[in-house]
Amino acid sequence: MGLSADNNERAVFATKFGAVATTVGSAVGLGNIWRFPYEAGIHGGGAFMICYLAFVFMIGIPLLCAEFCIGRGTRSNIFGAYRKLRPDRNWHFAGYIGILASILILSFYSVVAGWTIEYCLSSLFGQLDFSDTQTGHGQFVNLTTGWRPVIWTFVFLMCNFIILIGGVTKGIERASNILMPLFFILLAAFCINSFTLPGFKEGVTFLFKPDFSKISPSVLLGALGQAFFSLSLGLGCMMTYASYFNKDNRLGKTAVTTAVLDSSVAILAGIVIFPAVFSFGISPEAGPTLVFEVLPYIFSRFPGGAAWSTLFFLLLFLASLTSTVSMSEISITYFCEEKRWSRKKATVVSSAIGAVGGLLCALSFGPLNHLKISGMTFFDMFDYLSSNICLPIGGMICSIFTGWLINKRFVKDELTDNGKHRFRLLSLLLFFLRWICPAAIFLIFLNSIGII
Ligand code: PFF
Repeated sequence: MGLSADNNERAVFATKFGAVATTVGSAVGLGNIWRFPYEAGIHGGGAFMICYLAFVFMIGIPLLCAEFCIGRGTRSNIFGAYRKLRPDRNWHFAGYIGILASILILSFYSVVAGWTIEYCLSSLFGQLDFSDTQTGHGQFVNLTTGWRPVIWTFVFLMCNFIILIGGVTKGIERASNILMPLFFILLAAFCINSFTLPGFKEGVTFLFKPDFSKISPSVLLGALGQAFFSLSLGLGCMMTYASYFNKDNRLGKTAVTTAVLDSSVAILAGIVIFPAVFSFGISPEAGPTLVFEVLPYIFSRFPGGAAWSTLFFLLLFLASLTSTVSMSEISITYFCEEKRWSRKKATVVSSAIGAVGGLLCALSFGPLNHLKISGMTFFDMFDYLSSNICLPIGGMICSIFTGWLINKRFVKDELTDNGKHRFRLLSLLLFFLRWICPAAIFLIFLNSIGII
């Protein structure tokens, strides 16, 4: 894919497989491996899981279809897309929410991706010592406090910058075609290992057995945010990627494939993490640090653990890169197409803003730990604001826009490729976009602020 075009020429994905792999590459990342287990852990396991899956299928798939239709139909960035379809109104303001969300996410995401680099290198040089829980915890604290994480955050942002500016997106696309399946296989292997752990039954019960009494407003909001975050929805990322889709891409199929693969990776990650959590006596409610404290234990019990650990964190780092490249693309296409900036200038400015945000988030575990807004550090605040507020609002706007304001014919033509194939569920899809998605998001918001 020639996203590097400095003349702002619109490129298309070379192959259908490449388009789907890159879309899945955007969706699969730290959201599945790091964020899903920790959110499930703090929100009661099974109760969270059931809400998350319900939102992926009831809200996620319809919204993916909506973003795909708008993106490919208009071949524009989020602002241009809304404006092309409804030039008479100010719907394109939704683009500002998208840009804000993408910058907030890039900021904290880069910090966690920085941890993966540190873990990968430490494993490679045999410095990761997880012989007991105390040492393991101590090591994690050592790695994440102080100024060290700032360096890794910047290293990660630099890698992201090089890919974006160097026009090596093609390379990343090709690499992710191989690495994504490899990542999946590796995760499946660790999953099988989970069966042998003493805490397997407890872990799986925690994750899959819903205790409905635990479904609270915060569980609902958390699961909604996770569904949006994991599917890269609500901020125009999927819209932007769809603007590079070929005409022969069956949008409905791509939406279902993306949602199914993405949630499968999250579930696999859960099956890897929770049996280990219960086997090694770690609290499932540890929060953002959970996965980084648990994974090395799993590896240390494998023959050749350091090699497995190095490979895993390397793949996780690459999966994070395919996601950050996609979220950076939102502001870059905005600057290039709306402000007429060169791609170079757009990339420098977006990365610089990300670096400032990244600095604040990286220091949240150390020197800025005491600086809290509503009890949250910058890191927590950026995550909460983007995932639980901006993305659902962006999704609600997109849903109402597609369901009520754009021509039904436009949606139908996109989904059926101008009548070349059938899309039987069009009425159901529109019903969801008109009523179910906006109403569900709205009610969850009201519920979370205590109004209902
Ligand atoms: N979906 C990605 C993940 O689960 O890691 C995160 C993400 C990528 C969010 C791109 C938003 C985005 F625009």
